[in-house]
Parts: sequence; structure tokens; C-alpha cells
Amino acid sequence: MTRLSVNINKIATLRNARGGNNPDVIKVALDCERFGAEGITIHPRPDERHIRYQDAYELKKVLTTEFNIEGNPEGSFIKLVEDVKPHQVTLVPDAVDAITSNAGWDTIKHQAFLKETISNFKRLGIRVSVFVDPHPKFIEAAATAGADRVELYTEPYASKFHSNKTEAVKDYIQAAKCAKELGLGINAGHDLDLFNLNYLKTEIPFLDEVSIGHALVCDALYYGLENTIQLYLRQLK
Ligand code: PXP
Repeated sequence: MTRLSVNINKIATLRNARGGNNPDVIKVALDCERFGAEGITIHPRPDERHIRYQDAYELKKVLTTEFNIEGNPEGSFIKLVEDVKPHQVTLVPDAVDAITSNAGWDTIKHQAFLKETISNFKRLGIRVSVFVDPHPKFIEAAATAGADRVELYTEPYASKFHSNKTEAVKDYIQAAKCAKELGLGINAGHDLDLFNLNYLKTEIPFLDEVSIGHALVCDALYYGLENTIQLYLRQLK
């Protein structure tokens, strides 16, 4: 089974646009769960331009599915994750001013830092996933650093999908096999949508989880949130 974790950052972006509490991020997260989502993902950034740190504390009190917090493990993020203790933390090497994540970790170069960070989170009972590009060398080094899972960065897959899907998925199959052999769980995320999701799942049937935000929220404008979540779940069956 591949779990669908809905990234609700875009809901927070919409809320923040007017300064009030519409849409209510907590209500939307609970509705995502009610409509079938198997997890909720947030990606707080230090400037809190979309999801806010306070949202993470509120979400922790009410969510009943898997809670995944992703982000760059610098000071305030580490404190947040240690306080909230989500089920999973996904370590992402995004720069403070990046519009969105745009690369995985160089797990070889940052081996010592990742090892220490991962072990600190694992000591608190938090599963740790490391965001990586689909190259066996980065996956092997993520395993050496003690990661429980890797999240494969799927933007390159998504951007090549329409011109050549076989070629687009090739590195991901190899990376996923490598992760599986090393005993790592496998997540995937970034730019997954209703067109490219099912093929990824078909080619990597043992995917543990996908986290999807942008396309899902855009689709919800047309199909409604409940229908959209059902459509995404159907791609994963
Ligand atoms: N995974 C990571 C590490 C991300 O940074 C993001 C975007 O916040 C996603 C998954 C979800 O990507 P998208 O919004 O394109 O579905």
C-alpha cells in the first residue's frame, strides 16, 4: 500500500493572503483525513510564509493519521520537530529563500551532519526520511547516516514524463531497488499529479508514501477537495 500524504502548505498560503483564518488550515487538514488522506504533510520555513510553526502544534493535537513535517534541519526547525514529535520528519536541504525544494541532499558531503541529526530525531521516536535525488550513491549514504526512509525528489520525473515516461522513471526504479535492498522505506514527492502518479506507482509498486501538495490543491479548485483526494487515492490502487 502506498499512503497518500496531503501537503497543506498551499492552504496556508491562501489563508495568509488575507491575514485572517480563511481557509482554516486545521479544518482543511481534518477534512483531508475525513476524505481519505492517509497523512498530512507540512513544510514550515523560517519566514513562516505559508504554514506557521503554531499550525504544527495545533495540528499535532487533532490529527489522527500520519503527521509528516519536512524542512531544513536548522535551529528553529529542529526545536519545532522535537516539541511536536510528528510520526515522521523529512529532512530537506532547501535554502531559506527557495520558492520550493529544488534538489535532494548530497548525503556523502553532509554525512556527519545528517548522522547526528537523524540520530537525535530517532532517539525521540520520530521516523526520519531524507530527501534525495534518485542516485544509488546518495541512497547508500543516507542508509549509512541512519535514515529510515528516503524521499525521492520527483520533479525531474514529472518534467520528463510527458515526452518520455520510460526514460523519466528509469533512475527512480533503480534508486528504489537500491533503497529496498538496503532496508530503507521509500517515499516520493514533488510535482506528482493525476497524470504522472499512477505510472510511478506501477513502476515502483513498493512505494511507501507520496506527499502531494501543489497539483492536488489546484485540482481541488475544479473537482472539489473530497473528489480530488479520491481521484489521487485511485491512482495509487
Ligand atoms: N516533498 C518535498 C520535500 C517538498 O518540498 C514538497 C513541496 O513542498 C513536496 C514534496 C510536495 O511537492 P508538490 O507541492 O509539488 O506536490
